[in-house]
Amino acid sequence: MNYLVTGASQGIGFATALALASQPNDQIFALSRNSKGLALLVDTARDQYGHANVEVMAADLGNVDVADIAEWIKPFGYLHGLVNNAGLLLKASFLDSTAATWQQTFDVNFFAVVRLLQGLYPIMKSTHILNIGSMGGYQGSSKFPGLIAYSASKAALANLTECLAEEWKSNNIRCNCLAPGAVQTEMLATAFPGFEAPVSSEKMGEMVAWFLREGHHFFNGKVLPVSVSTP
Ligand SMILES: NC(=O)c1ccc[n+]([C@@H]2O[C@H](COP(=O)([O-])OP(=O)(O)OC[C@H]3O[C@@H](n4cnc5c(N)ncnc54)[C@H](OP(=O)(O)O)[C@@H]3O)[C@@H](O)[C@H]2O)c1
Repeated sequence: MNYLVTGASQGIGFATALALASQPNDQIFALSRNSKGLALLVDTARDQYGHANVEVMAADLGNVDVADIAEWIKPFGYLHGLVNNAGLLLKASFLDSTAATWQQTFDVNFFAVVRLLQGLYPIMKSTHILNIGSMGGYQGSSKFPGLIAYSASKAALANLTECLAEEWKSNNIRCNCLAPGAVQTEMLATAFPGFEAPVSSEKMGEMVAWFLREGHHFFNGKVLPVSVSTP
């Protein structure tokens, strides 16, 4: 199977790509801007499993040509799983937020996903698309000041998930969204300084990898909270 994980240089994306790499017959494509983090991913996977099945691309989802990503994957065949994990959190109250706050947040958390989905569609076949949302974007969950742009972008991503699953179901492509609560990463430290999350990025990565492989057998168009705490 061929799997693409965005935002794989650190945090949940790194852990997800690493967990997926455990199976030698699977090919992992890992993308984010920071090439150091990606190189660490390649080395860690090789050291941990003794095989080399992680390809990396250092690119900014804000301006990458998605055709280049499709060309990168194409020689390996169809894309069977896509984890839209890359995310940006800019903390600002509604009145302090600027047009740039909203633009940058939606560019990474929403519009980049739209571009990726449209551009990679030609190489999808029985693909499981897994969007990484957030409890902040989950209807009815507790909300926190300063996370308004971030949460709104994740709510948009959740709705995109539901709508896309409907549009692409006849093509045997399934689309789900996991909405994590607090996971110990750099982003969490920005959102909730000093808060200790009950879940590590490694544990969440294992869960995301498992869900990417298995979740589409049970779910389509679902937005699923993955949380044991508030936040
Ligand atoms: N941690 C939590 O508690 C939590 C809770 C709910 C949801 N989430 C979601 O889980 C996902 C992963 O979050 P995390 O906590 O692991 O955050 P993180 O440690 O800040 O990692 C974010 C990742 O996204 C990548 N990224 C950001 N902007 C990018 C861009 N323009 N182009 C390409 N890659 C970009 C970063 O890589 P580069 O900097 O190398 O580009 C990094 O690898 C996010 O979607 C986040 O919203 C996290």
